[in-house]
Amino acid sequence: MERFYTTTAIDYVNGAPHIGHAYEKILTNVIFRHFTQRTDNAYMLTGCDEHGIKIQKTSKELGMSEQEFCDMNAQKFIDAWKLLDINYSQLIRTTNPLHKSAVQKIFQKLKDKGDIYLHKYEGLYCSGCEAFLNEKDLDENGCCPIHKKKPEVVCEENYFFRLSKYKDAIIKYIKNNPDFIIPSFRANEVLNQLENIEDISVSRSKKSVHWGIPVLDDDSQVIYVWIDALSNYITALGYLSEDDEKFQKYWPADVQVIGKDILKFHAIYWPAILMALDLPLPKHILAHGWITIDETKMSKSLGNVVSPKSVMESFNLIQPDALRYYMATSAPCGKDGNYSDDDFKEKVNAHLANSMGNLLNRSLSMLVKYFEGDIKPEFITKAELFSEAKKTIENVKHHFDYYEVQEAGLKIMEFVDTVNKFVTDNAPWTLAKEEKWTECGTVLYTVLECMTAISSLIYPYCPNIASAMANQLKYDINTKLDDINFNAIKEGHLINKEDIKPVFLRLDSELADKKK
Ligand code: ME8
Ligand code: MG
Repeated sequence: MERFYTTTAIDYVNGAPHIGHAYEKILTNVIFRHFTQRTDNAYMLTGCDEHGIKIQKTSKELGMSEQEFCDMNAQKFIDAWKLLDINYSQLIRTTNPLHKSAVQKIFQKLKDKGDIYLHKYEGLYCSGCEAFLNEKDLDENGCCPIHKKKPEVVCEENYFFRLSKYKDAIIKYIKNNPDFIIPSFRANEVLNQLENIEDISVSRSKKSVHWGIPVLDDDSQVIYVWIDALSNYITALGYLSEDDEKFQKYWPADVQVIGKDILKFHAIYWPAILMALDLPLPKHILAHGWITIDETKMSKSLGNVVSPKSVMESFNLIQPDALRYYMATSAPCGKDGNYSDDDFKEKVNAHLANSMGNLLNRSLSMLVKYFEGDIKPEFITKAELFSEAKKTIENVKHHFDYYEVQEAGLKIMEFVDTVNKFVTDNAPWTLAKEEKWTECGTVLYTVLECMTAISSLIYPYCPNIASAMANQLKYDINTKLDDINFNAIKEGHLINKEDIKPVFLRLDSELADKKK
């Protein structure tokens, strides 16, 4: 694998990040971190979507300038991603001048090509969707089915994009590339939407929306926020700028991660724009599901919006690993997931503390108790368990090739269980009692060697825990997956008693409950 490029949706900054936004960034970051273990050239882009009527209205209500408002809220997203150890390569804000000028050039290019034309138009605009809706899309009250608000009647002369021209090519592409849309069951949904696709309005009159990127040679119009937003995936890499080295290196993206609600924009509009620009399409679009809270849709009116920060605080977490692990494994690829405090506590205590953390802790403690922390040369063997570990690594890689992040996580935990069973079956404490020292030491060595592989595998989900494990094993956490050869634990002194530390403390239920 030579290079890997992954992106997230860019979030509207008209509010603060919640656990749904966090889910997507964690999912993408786990994928990204996994691929950093397979290539030195992995790149992750995330960002903030800062234009459009919604931002314009909200900032006005607050008496702030749009830019001030965006700066204030973008910072909340940046802070949240920092808190969650989302180590993206780049975060793009669509108010960035370089992005704005590239979007203008993209628009101009499509106009020059004849794919964008002027057209007088009357339509129904939903500011929640930032999109025109058809009469037949509305619910029985004439409202947007997602935002439950009546769309605004807009009558304007706008620029239109010849989406219909690309209809057949997109249908063909989706049919010829059955893994373009992941999960594949969503491809049919998109093919159905494509049946009725028409040209789309791609600008708004400045009189109705001024908070956007002006059309280059027509100052009366601003570019439609979705054209602006979708372009981020290539403008961030320098497309149509003086320095497009990153664009040359990383485009097309390997996987673009988005929520299922915005699949139409990414599987129809975006491919059409790319085709119009004569650019290759992304290899995969991963449409993840929706995160609910206690099985209920999050909403301001219900007052059940959960932020990643509030979860961290209510459980007194100083590291985000548990939340990352929980979110990343909360749903099968593409399906809806749920967050609940009780489930979170139960799952991370069971998996991270009881199964994984304890396994390392007891093995190292026995090594100290029986052998003063030394690995003797006679302990070192090629254990059968290593081929089991090797198989797990291959399985995990395979799941990641299809972006099955939950499934990969479960495979890792299955292997942790296998190693736990190995300890129980071989009972090193009994071997010690019987003074079968070589056998006892071999069991411990085998487990510790397996733990090095486990630390690598869990790293994308739990980077801090993985590093703490690797530290105690004197293992290089930056080892590439293909370089794991089960010879990382060397003969000699491994660890002192005082350096053995639990890598994850059980979430203290009383403490957490007291805080609420
Ligand atoms: O749609 N569960 O921004 P956005 C899971 N700016 N994912 C969720 C979620 C939930 N409860 N709520 C939101 C936009 N998301 C555009 C994107 S991309 C060029 C422009 C996901 O802030 C949602 O599906 O409304 C989307 O992928 C992302 O968060 C940003 O949503
Ligand atoms: Mg949304």
